[in-house]
Amino acid sequence: MKVVLLTGGTGYIGSHTAVELIIAGYKVVIVDNLSNSSIDSIDGIQKITGVKPDFVKADCSVFSEIQALFDKYNGFSSVIHFAALKAVGESVEKPLEYYHNNLSSLINLLQLMKKWNGGNLVFSSSCTIYGQPDTLPVTEKSPYKPAASPYGNTKKIAEDILRDTINVSGSIKGISLRYFNPIGAHPTSEIGELPLGKPDNLIPFITQTAIGIREKLQIFGSDYDSVDGTAIRDYFHVVDLAKAHVLALKRLEENRNKTGFEVFNVGAGKGVTVLEIVKAFEKVSGVKLNYEIIGRRAGDIEKVWADTTFANAELNWKVQSTLEDALLTAWNWEKKLRVVRSEK
Ligand code: NAD
Ligand code: WQD
Repeated sequence: MKVVLLTGGTGYIGSHTAVELIIAGYKVVIVDNLSNSSIDSIDGIQKITGVKPDFVKADCSVFSEIQALFDKYNGFSSVIHFAALKAVGESVEKPLEYYHNNLSSLINLLQLMKKWNGGNLVFSSSCTIYGQPDTLPVTEKSPYKPAASPYGNTKKIAEDILRDTINVSGSIKGISLRYFNPIGAHPTSEIGELPLGKPDNLIPFITQTAIGIREKLQIFGSDYDSVDGTAIRDYFHVVDLAKAHVLALKRLEENRNKTGFEVFNVGAGKGVTVLEIVKAFEKVSGVKLNYEIIGRRAGDIEKVWADTTFANAELNWKVQSTLEDALLTAWNWEKKLRVVRSEK
């Protein structure tokens, strides 16, 4: 059985990917320091798949901890690297924490993979590296824009580190998946997004407002160039994103990659406004959302959505779920959390 290491695997995207990898026949080993996730994800993964992944609590930014993990498993020839801090606003307040955590973790992993004869690495990148693109939809060939936050910069630098390392390595291959806006939860409601405190992202803010944790959603900006004046993003189901990781890993394992380091946009390929999201959520949930429109959020771009031609053709990947499916799973997950909270 092929073994794959998931760093940050108890987190939102990592836990959904663990499920898809187990379904695809992999043995999954998860390492996470639980700084932004709960150990309950392991039970959720087991409930969905019937298989409990191995779990090791360790910090990827501490070399000795990750070295011990590689020693324990005699290295890993396949790694999916999710572990990172991801709060854009917090990264502006604590840049060193973000640069240290996100970049040291990647460097440690690459050093250890090199020591253990190389292997395949799939990396969690982000559409944030495109900033506001000059042309839409945005392709992988679009230029990087200066990062609006230290968080965004860690993704840009991480891709540079990967490209430079892989160029000379001969033994490490990599795929960077540039995620657009993954949303929703597993349809079983056994795993989902667990934002700590007040959510920054739109969908958890909407579901928390609908369930009564937040009084109202504030919509940031109504003077953008869009049908209703609100900003446009490319939202897609997290389970579809999880499946993209399985396909990317298989491409590397089966040597179907065209170059040592490849990048793929991963999104629905369709732009949707904030107000369209609100309306779609109201329709699938049957809940009328309390919201107000206020000014723009600092650092926000106006619109972005993906050209996914490369992923469609080369990974044989495209979204399967609709926006409504994804929003319904997000809502079902929020309702499940309410039950869990009331039992505690
Ligand atoms: P998440 O916070 O739910 O998952 C990240 C996991 O990494 C958490 O479980 C956290 O505890 C762990 N972690 C962080 N630093 C660690 C360290 N030093 N050692 C071990 N574990 C560590 O976030 P997510 O939404 O699942 O994001 C996963 C990856 O995808 C991140 O790299 C993120 O930057 C990237 N990404 C996310 C989005 C999004 O919209 N969610 C979009 C683009 C890219
Ligand atoms: C979506 C839209 C907001 C909250 C973030 C990160 C980015 C990437 C993806 C990791 C925007 C609006 C939001 C609210 C609102 N993550 N909004 N009221 O801005 O596309 O990007 O996630 O790499 O780096 O910055 O996602 O969910 O925060 O916002 O009106 O309370 O919803 O202005 O237009 P975003 P988001």
